[in-house]
Amino acid sequence: MIWLIGSKGMLGTEIARQLELNNINYVGTDKEVDITNIENLENFVKSVKNIRWIINCSAYTAVDKAEEETELAQLLNETGVKNIALIAKKINSKLIHISTDYVFDGTSLIPYKETDKISPLGIYGITKAAGEKAVSEVLNEYYIIRTAWLYGYDGKNFVYTMLKLMNAKNEIKVVNDQFGSPTFTADLAYSILRIILCRGIDFDLPNPPEYGIYHCTNLGQISWFDFAKEIYKIGKENNLISSICNIMPCSTEEYPTKTKRPSYSVLNKDKIQKTLDFKLPYWNESLRIFLLSPLFKNEFLL
Ligand SMILES: NC(=O)c1ccc[n+]([C@@H]2O[C@H](COP(=O)([O-])OP(=O)(O)OC[C@H]3O[C@@H](n4cnc5c(N)ncnc54)[C@H](OP(=O)(O)O)[C@@H]3O)[C@@H](O)[C@H]2O)c1
Repeated sequence: MIWLIGSKGMLGTEIARQLELNNINYVGTDKEVDITNIENLENFVKSVKNIRWIINCSAYTAVDKAEEETELAQLLNETGVKNIALIAKKINSKLIHISTDYVFDGTSLIPYKETDKISPLGIYGITKAAGEKAVSEVLNEYYIIRTAWLYGYDGKNFVYTMLKLMNAKNEIKVVNDQFGSPTFTADLAYSILRIILCRGIDFDLPNPPEYGIYHCTNLGQISWFDFAKEIYKIGKENNLISSICNIMPCSTEEYPTKTKRPSYSVLNKDKIQKTLDFKLPYWNESLRIFLLSPLFKNEFLL
């Protein structure tokens, strides 16, 4: 049995969808089983038998707001994660925990490897780094998956926001000096399921993927401006945008946010691809699939 925590979030929803499609037994919980209250978690595991895997997609994800809501961010991303790790240990379950490229400061000139030193710039990154530490201190049998620039069907994200703006305005400015790799939740969810299936749901299979940290995003590296241009191109070709909109590049200085973001947060994906013996799709291939899918939700454009 798999316990999916944060099952109503953007990534959680996609993992739930893929578990169902593959007829894999799971139980999903979200805010009703509050991760910040360990008694809630203890009571929950008493009611479900044979949990062998926990996938944690719950988190505090509001990067800018975290600067003001420091305690809440810490409570979810560190205390809550530690609670989950303690429960995993107690019931002898493996844990897959999701983390972020924002644990890095962006000063690298080449894609970050799992072994590179972390140095987060803001509260969100600091609390996510603390969550990673809590997992590695409590457990041996864990996977920490760092991802980045996530978008998917069920949740507010950059792609929906851009389409909405492109339909409403004649011109928009998008930063062209922050580089990363967009990630479609469907590709990340597939990678997570692959880890579980390669190790075995209920019993360990031979040669399982080693525990530890893995980086998983789509392939390729671009700026937010490049990302917006491609959204516009595919959106225009497929009648998702009805008017003309000029996409203009601007600098981070011109468009300041509360939190300093890494200017370069590309993650090196060699380890996960080699370990799981598969190739992640390029960001633009996945963006097209997302935009043309029947699961694409027009209501997010309203
Ligand atoms: N989104 C990105 O661009 C991005 C980039 C890199 C890494 N990540 C990481 O990827 C993971 C998934 O992100 P996401 O965008 O799918 O997040 P999300 O949509 O914000 O989902 C998080 C879920 O956790 C729930 N939650 C909040 N407080 C909780 C609590 N106390 N107990 C149980 N559940 C609670 C949220 O409920 P409410 O919505 O009702 O609060 C939400 O359903 C996170 O670990 C995030 O840090 C995301």
